[in-house]
Amino acid sequence: MGNIGQQQEETPKMPLLSPYTMGKFQLSHRIVLAPLTRERSFGNVPQPLATLYYSQRTTRRGLLIAEATGVSDTAQGYPDTPGIWTKEQVEAWKPIVEADHAKGGIFFCQIWNVGRVSHKGFDGVEIHGAHGFLIDHFMKYQVNDRTDQYGGSLENLCRFALELVEEVAIEIGVDIKECKTYEHKTPLMVLIQACKLIRVYENRERRE
Ligand SMILES: Cc1cc2nc3c(=O)[nH]c(=O)nc-3n(C[C@H](O)[C@H](O)[C@H](O)COP(=O)(O)O)c2cc1C
Repeated sequence: MGNIGQQQEETPKMPLLSPYTMGKFQLSHRIVLAPLTRERSFGNVPQPLATLYYSQRTTRRGLLIAEATGVSDTAQGYPDTPGIWTKEQVEAWKPIVEADHAKGGIFFCQIWNVGRVSHKGFDGVEIHGAHGFLIDHFMKYQVNDRTDQYGGSLENLCRFALELVEEVAIEIGVDIKECKTYEHKTPLMVLIQACKLIRVYENRERRE
């Protein structure tokens, strides 16, 4: 039997469990809770049970992304999903975020549009840009038949998403410089590259 301390030292670290610096956040590991719509926010108000749900999934300096959260009554896609556009909703989120912070967690709110997220004490915002929702409409050439500056070229398909990112960053006071690079590319370059890949993938699917 070898020395247990020595065995631990020799065990290679799993990359997934190693720290990661994400802008101003020092994550202690790279496992993130994906946003998961739960439809348990009756009347669009987060319920006390959500405090338990999220804090059970909190780890110290681990990142959680809250379920998609509407910013207006017209932003809703599913019943009983939470919102953040009324004072009641804002107040209901507070103990949920506080419980996460009490365990040392980092909590982002996923929003469907620009909202008043800074009032709720969340640490950051994720903009929902997938799953055929509004932003995705703009980015998919199959449904975007616009002829203005929001349609046509890849740059134009990305324009709405990028404008939204900028507006949200301005609204919540985020330093947009924090998210300026990925492999030394600007957000626009990254988005265009992603769209190109999607196009290649979709064309391949069509052929098969
Ligand atoms: C029940 C359910 C609810 C989801 N809700 C959201 C959501 O609110 N926002 C979002 O961006 N993705 C949502 N997703 C997508 C997940 O976050 C995740 O991206 C998706 O399940 C793909 O990850 P996987 O390949 O690990 O399953 C949801 C998925 C499921 C199954």
